[in-house]
Amino acid sequence: MKRVLLIIGGGIAAYKCLDLIRRLGERGFAVRCVMTKAAQEFITPLAVGAISNERVATDLFDLEGEREIGHIRLARETDLVVVAPATADLLARMAQGQGNDLATAVLLATRARVLVAPAMNPAMWSHPATQRNVRQLEADGVQFIGPNAGEMAEKGEAGVGRMAEVGEIVARIESLIADNEESASGFGFLNVSGSRAKPEPSLPLAGRHVLVTSGPTHEPIDSVRYIANRSSGKQGHAIAVAARRLGARVTLVTGPVQLADPDGVETHRVETANEMLAAVEAALPADVAVFAAAVADWRVAAPGRGKIKKAPNAGPPQLELVENPDILRTIAKRTSRRPTLVVGFAAETSAVIENAQGKRKSKSVDWIVANDVSEETGVFGGERNRVHLVTPQGVESWPEMSKAEVADALLARAAGFLTEAREQV
Ligand code: CTP
Repeated sequence: MKRVLLIIGGGIAAYKCLDLIRRLGERGFAVRCVMTKAAQEFITPLAVGAISNERVATDLFDLEGEREIGHIRLARETDLVVVAPATADLLARMAQGQGNDLATAVLLATRARVLVAPAMNPAMWSHPATQRNVRQLEADGVQFIGPNAGEMAEKGEAGVGRMAEVGEIVARIESLIADNEESASGFGFLNVSGSRAKPEPSLPLAGRHVLVTSGPTHEPIDSVRYIANRSSGKQGHAIAVAARRLGARVTLVTGPVQLADPDGVETHRVETANEMLAAVEAALPADVAVFAAAVADWRVAAPGRGKIKKAPNAGPPQLELVENPDILRTIAKRTSRRPTLVVGFAAETSAVIENAQGKRKSKSVDWIVANDVSEETGVFGGERNRVHLVTPQGVESWPEMSKAEVADALLARAAGFLTEAREQV
């Protein structure tokens, strides 16, 4: 039986841990829980103990507890440590290596991998101090899931800061534990996540992490209107599905689309370009990143708080636009944890190949999939696609195919690229 030690931090998202424990139990995990003092303000150790079927550990100097099970044993007798919700304070204490309560003492003493699901107010998450702590913890090998974008528990607050959904956390726990089992075999090669892949993977992308962006973004004008584009997300979603079929662990970051989340894929739904960038960065490291989203190039500098009203004789509102971050460029130009293979798309209506070659160089991208999105091609929103693959070696013009076939062909090429890269090491 696989064991998970769940450290519950003090945030409103703590209540979701009850569902997390139940879902892990259904999948055959033994879950032992540690609660910080603040967590006990949100849910009781009694409730957590009843669902996990285990005594909940709350105190570093609990004599009775120490007799039953000390913090060193708690730290050692587990296959994975999960911290959820991780507050800004808990992240700061972890990054500093403090050990002044049971939760942090266990985190210092463990040799197991640690997965952290942050949850906090968006301003606290984006604060430079929190981001510094996250970078430190990532450098220490801690894995992160989320936070996601969306509504916060506080009324009227929205942004990046929601704890990842329970289903996403369960999927990541299962894949981290599967990774552990592969590395326990002691063979294989190291991939970017530092985990070992199987020596003879049965599927070409087994042991790999593929990150995909998909769909449009919505940039608010006011609380009811937004700027969008005609992207359907079909190509990006097909790429996520193809990567999964080839055995990869897949993270899909998608703007608003009318498509279901693909099976077996960790899907994060976002609205704006800024949220998409945050979700992509949170999903690193990755072996392959494919940027198929049609990200809005501009957003409204100061979106209206309510609905902008028409006033007699006032004329239309003057919308000042500012440039959005270029997600592809930001990731491709990273000096640390850049995916081994970065693939961009180029949606063009003229001089398709020349423009794509220009984008490949200026954004420091490995490959560009260029397509003609002029209205007469029916590519935007349609089922089929005719693309050119632009690489440092030249341009390949592929025949017209369904979006699923384009995805399969692209991912098969990506798998080949990774194999060659591995053989050259
Ligand atoms: N892209 C991105 N972030 C942006 C804009 C684009 O990640 N803010 C990515 C897209 O996902 C795609 C690639 O960049 O992989 C090219 O997008 P495209 O719209 O063709 O090009 P732009 O760089 O926006 O240039 P332009 O609109 O001027 O053609």
